[in-house]
Amino acid sequence: MVIFSFIAELVFSVVIIFIALYLYFTRNFNYWKNKNVPYIKPLPFFGNIYNGILMRHCMGEIFSDLYKKSMKPFIGFFILDKPCILLRDPQIIKKFLVNDFQYFYDRNVLNNIRDDPISTHVLFVLKNPEWKEIRTKITPVFTSSKIKVMSKLIEDVAQEMVDYLGKNIDVNSTMDMKDISLKFTVDVISTTIFGVNAYSFKNKNSEFKEIAQKLFNWDDLLTAFRMRCYFLAPAIAKLFRMSFLDPYCTRFLKKCFLEIMDSRIVSKVSRNDLIDILLQLKNNDEQFMDGDILVAQAVMFFAAGFETSSSTMAFALYELAHHPDIQNKLRHEINVISEKHGGINFDSLKEMEYLDMCVKEVLRKYPVLPFLDRKATANYNIPGTDIIIDRDTPVFIPILALHNDPRYFPSPEKFDPERFSKTNVNNIENFAYMPFGEGPRNCIGARFGKITTKLGLAYILKTFMIETTRLTENKIKFNPKGVVLSSLTGMKLRLNKV
Ligand code: HEM
Repeated sequence: MVIFSFIAELVFSVVIIFIALYLYFTRNFNYWKNKNVPYIKPLPFFGNIYNGILMRHCMGEIFSDLYKKSMKPFIGFFILDKPCILLRDPQIIKKFLVNDFQYFYDRNVLNNIRDDPISTHVLFVLKNPEWKEIRTKITPVFTSSKIKVMSKLIEDVAQEMVDYLGKNIDVNSTMDMKDISLKFTVDVISTTIFGVNAYSFKNKNSEFKEIAQKLFNWDDLLTAFRMRCYFLAPAIAKLFRMSFLDPYCTRFLKKCFLEIMDSRIVSKVSRNDLIDILLQLKNNDEQFMDGDILVAQAVMFFAAGFETSSSTMAFALYELAHHPDIQNKLRHEINVISEKHGGINFDSLKEMEYLDMCVKEVLRKYPVLPFLDRKATANYNIPGTDIIIDRDTPVFIPILALHNDPRYFPSPEKFDPERFSKTNVNNIENFAYMPFGEGPRNCIGARFGKITTKLGLAYILKTFMIETTRLTENKIKFNPKGVVLSSLTGMKLRLNKV
């Protein structure tokens, strides 16, 4: 009898808890309806990101799924119980990102000053007014003349990569070009930002490469979960005191950076890299005398720089392997123009129009950061409507979906660099193509990323032909746990000397 009443009490408590949770998690579900905003019906506890929570879809695919559910210019949806808005129409997107930027200058991503003293100063997560101050001071780091000087360091790494490939290919073997691209960009970032050679090609156990792999290791559930919380559910990341980047990695990068900085101060040697530029900021600007702010910029360049460029390079090699005609045309351009300039360098790259078209098309099909996020910093009236977006509402822009919408890019599955030819490029709708984001908060390293990717590709293509093998996938499957786009299985390709 006692046991029976115990079970009855237990069942009763579970039912009450379930009902309470249900009511709590669904309390906002009329939010968009009450505002007269078209919205997608949510599921209790999950909102509209069921597949995202179960890590069945990568972040780009989550927003693409939502994008396809309506044709309206903007739609309401829910992340768990939180009302969010997804912008679909390029003209509305322009308003949010550019014209009315003063309402959307912050990202939704968490800035966790309590638990992550380094990443809290990283430009990507900084909130205003600190973001504006740091962004203004960091912007001159990426001027064309500074990148030109740094491009000499990138050329050295590209030559090392080609030498390595030359020694390691054999006709029957395939190489994982995702891994090669990663080695290349890790060495580029290490030499241009940290002023050291990471020797990823010479040394199998390069520490910088290990750190890079750990930073965005989507197969590590903790990393995948932490990142997903930071972007989609900042309140959960805060509650569980998560850090933005892996603390072991930030500690390693901090130690390296401070050691290199100290030795640079003692030796007074200049290497025309970012350390030199950050040293100048440290000497001349009070704000940068706080070590953590300075370290954060180096950590940010490292984290934001290697994965984006290496993935773009790997996706490019994959598409070129599938399209030998495009690859040959590109190689011809590289040969002709590099001969004219005495090699592949900053100046010759500027003349390689077809290379530029190919990279643009790669970034159309595979925008490495497949969505943008912002947060309303004040109540905002959507122009032409009487709808008010409340302060603190997260705003998402589905880049991957826009880039693959046949209305803007006919036959989006087709890899076609001609979309970006001089005659065709003007037909692309403004704000339907944004691989580097848009507005004052766009990618600060876009130029640097493009030069790195193009130098890497040009060096490889001048020396090698890239081919698919039976191990190469016909269609890339994105890693469902990824925040950035990355291939689930690597990029198995065959290289032959030209
Ligand atoms: C192919 C390479 C790259 C791609 C596709 C890319 C893409 C992006 C995108 C889409 C954003 C968000 C922009 C927005 O919200 O409007 C972004 C932001 C950012 N990127 Fe990149 N990126 C690349 C390379 C780099 C490199 C090489 C660096 C640095 C060395 C870098 C540093 C940053 C930083 C610091 C931000 C945050 C800017 C801010 O909040 O003010 N990126 N990037």
